[in-house]
Amino acid sequence: MSNNPYLPFKSQIINITKQTEVDWTYQLACDIKPQWGQFVEVSIPGVGECPISISDFGEGYIEMTIRRVGKVTNIIHQLDKVDHLFIRGPYGNGFPVPEFSGKQLIIAAGGTGLAPVKSIINHFYRNPSNLSQLDLLAGFKSPSDILFQEDLALWANQFNVLVTVDKMLGDTPWNCKEGLITKWVPEIKIPNLEEARIIVVGPPVMMKYTVQEFLKLGITEENIWVSFERKMCCGIGKCGHCKIDDTYVCLEGPVFNFTKAKNLMD
Ligand SMILES: Cc1cc2nc3c(=O)[nH]c(=O)nc-3n(C[C@H](O)[C@H](O)[C@H](O)COP(=O)(O)OP(=O)(O)OC[C@H]3O[C@@H](n4cnc5c(N)ncnc54)[C@H](O)[C@@H]3O)c2cc1C
Ligand code: FES
Repeated sequence: MSNNPYLPFKSQIINITKQTEVDWTYQLACDIKPQWGQFVEVSIPGVGECPISISDFGEGYIEMTIRRVGKVTNIIHQLDKVDHLFIRGPYGNGFPVPEFSGKQLIIAAGGTGLAPVKSIINHFYRNPSNLSQLDLLAGFKSPSDILFQEDLALWANQFNVLVTVDKMLGDTPWNCKEGLITKWVPEIKIPNLEEARIIVVGPPVMMKYTVQEFLKLGITEENIWVSFERKMCCGIGKCGHCKIDDTYVCLEGPVFNFTKAKNLMD
């Protein structure tokens, strides 16, 4: 790979896991050392480029979970193991994971919002003594939209994992609840409000109302972080596509403390 973070490099697909009909996880051979919650720009020559969160990483590989929605992602879903993608990055700031040490970490993730936090959950799964408690609240539209089912089952051995779907349609492959994430926030046991650190990631409307629920419980704004998926182009502060007022989401984000994020949300 290139040492220049602005230059795309070729990366081989070593595994593909189909999470749902449209969300597939790609494991790529790659030596980058990302921070939790950072993203890369993924490109197909002659087609285009798109920002994708790093959903997990380890020695010699990264993982991304890519939803098929358009031009670039349609082509990516046509690729197979041993094919290559072009990657540049990692970009963005990521989550302040060391700040969560010794605390209760509560993660509320909506849909593909679970992807950018998966590596954090795995980190604490491997290092459980670094937290006093981890609660994961994961919400999906329907049972067939549930991502990372094997991981959810594994994490539930060690953490408080609650999976909820907006509508329970037919059989559910995971023992989950029904209702929006906001409905379940008050159910989370928080022994010490000052010791709780909150991450909320998902569609803008989900983040807005979920954060409100945590604020109602008495969590302070500075203990809440969110991650934005803005439309991006360059990923490096040059094109202005991601700008909200004077803030470049690609450079200063995508992760924001809520004290800042509240001024960027509609
Ligand atoms: C920081 C960041 C992290 C992301 N992480 C992931 C991830 O982990 N997995 C994933 O599947 N996607 C992720 N996305 C969204 C992803 O970048 C878009 O889905 C992708 O750009 C679509 O490209 P395309 O060429 O396939 O679709 P296009 O043909 O460009 O667009 C198809 C449709 O998707 C809409 N769209 C394009 N980009 C976005 C966007 N950023 N947000 C909302 N709608 C969009 C378009 O308006 C259009 O309606 C992330 C975006 C950002 C900014
Ligand atoms: S994506 Fe180009 S400036 Fe942020």
